[in-house]
Amino acid sequence: MVARGRHRRREETKEMAGPIGVAAAPFTYASHFLGVAAAVLVLVWCINFRGGLAFEAVNKNLIFNLHPVFMLIGFIAVGGEAIISYKVLPWSKEVRKLIHLILHAIAIGLGVLGIWAAFKFHNDSGIANLYSLHSWVGLGTIVLYGIQWIYGFVTFYYPGAAAGLRSSSLPWHVLFGLFVYILGVATAELGFLEKLTFLQNSGLAKYGTEAFLVNFTALVVILLGTSVVISAIAPAKVHEQKGYVRIEES
Ligand code: HEM
Ligand code: HEM
Repeated sequence: MVARGRHRRREETKEMAGPIGVAAAPFTYASHFLGVAAAVLVLVWCINFRGGLAFEAVNKNLIFNLHPVFMLIGFIAVGGEAIISYKVLPWSKEVRKLIHLILHAIAIGLGVLGIWAAFKFHNDSGIANLYSLHSWVGLGTIVLYGIQWIYGFVTFYYPGAAAGLRSSSLPWHVLFGLFVYILGVATAELGFLEKLTFLQNSGLAKYGTEAFLVNFTALVVILLGTSVVISAIAPAKVHEQKGYVRIEES
């Protein structure tokens, strides 16, 4: 009897440990670190290897270089910080909500600036627009991200939906939010692949330092995306019920 009771208690504790049985904290630290690493790597690539950044220049490649920098630092890294802000910050739910929505707004703003740079580079150089899978998925991502932000703002912030709609929307908000974030990470991967293939087709050494740097940056971005998603689905504390758990209940 005693042994069976102990066994049941152990089983219940396992059930409460969340789907992956580990807390979000280590993944939030990993996300900060990987976000900074990705930012440094993309800056080293665009400034040291690709000639630098400019909004206006005779060398149009410098305008293109703004694109990966804004997309990676602005959209992916700041967007990731916005997602993990609920798990990281010690303040009240209201303050965390405000920071979450402001950081997402900054991510969208910098993302739009980055896409504008890609279009400007194409238009100034007489190159066609929107011919690649990368550009289609990219445009779709930023549009869906914008819709997600507006729905989140109207439902959870101002004017705010009725309590019933708010709580039934939240799991969808989280699911759709993670989906668009993963789509953003996938778009960045396609972008790195496309740019590196262009460069290699015009003579860049396949096993050279720059090719290695670009592929390594893209790997860091995969790890960043993974740790952000795990931070969101892992419980803030380990002893929580299975599946996604609302922050305020933890
Ligand atoms: C989430 C991040 C990203 C989004 C949403 C995105 C979106 C876009 C869009 C919409 C275009 C089309 C511009 C036009 O047709 O004039 C474009 C072009 C381009 N992007 Fe990205 N991008 C992202 C990240 C990156 C990254 C990290 C790279 C790496 C270098 C990159 C490389 C390129 C290249 C080479 C082009 C020009 C060729 C093409 O249109 O496919 N992108 N991007
Ligand atoms: C494109 C923008 C957005 C994305 C991608 C996004 C994504 C997410 C994700 C992934 C979570 C789960 C975080 C976690 O549990 O660790 C979350 C939670 C939440 N978000 Fe957003 N979000 C966005 C915009 C907004 C906006 C504008 C609001 C308005 C206030 C908002 C309100 C909330 C709330 C209230 C939660 C629930 C926190 C809890 O579990 O109690 N989000 N969001």
